[in-house]
Amino acid sequence: MTTSHKLTTVRALRSQARKHIEHGAVTAGYNADRAKVLKLLNEALATEIVCVLRYRRHHFMARGIHGQSVGAEFLVNSKEEQGHADLLAARIVQLGGEPDFSPDSLSQLSYAEYVSAKTLPNMIRENLVAERIAIDSYRDMVLYLGDKDPTTSDLLKKILAVEEEHADELADLLEDLPKDSGGR
Ligand SMILES: [Fe+2]
Ligand SMILES: [Fe+2]
Repeated sequence: MTTSHKLTTVRALRSQARKHIEHGAVTAGYNADRAKVLKLLNEALATEIVCVLRYRRHHFMARGIHGQSVGAEFLVNSKEEQGHADLLAARIVQLGGEPDFSPDSLSQLSYAEYVSAKTLPNMIRENLVAERIAIDSYRDMVLYLGDKDPTTSDLLKKILAVEEEHADELADLLEDLPKDSGGR
């Protein structure tokens, strides 16, 4: 493997670290397009929040013999999506941006939709669709970042792995659900 990256001298490291110290974690070596990264992170944040809300609604609305167990799963996922939202918001601030928690922008920024759904199979299906959207969008962002912002990239990969688990669980739930379990 060949790499064109030349190590920065200690002297240069020390001198560039003293410039713009008000930028905190964003140093001269930050190679990504910060504005673009902040935009993507805010879109991911909105997606996570919409997923928190959808899972929350489905948790309370899950009915039928499988309602309790599946509904409990929805609550677990809702809390994990909230955790993702918090990680993304913290990274946005670290990069000198502002996390957008405004209810008015959520559905516009979110990649996934808020679908209320009435029956258990439809709830599972809608959550699975949203997870698949999240998976593709995170994978896309990781590829876009390449090695330009390894911290953000690692964070997104960590979240991506959990979304893949969610999607896998939901696909299993959908398969296990008897066909007459109220899906219309
Ligand atoms: Fe998530
Ligand atoms: Fe998820």
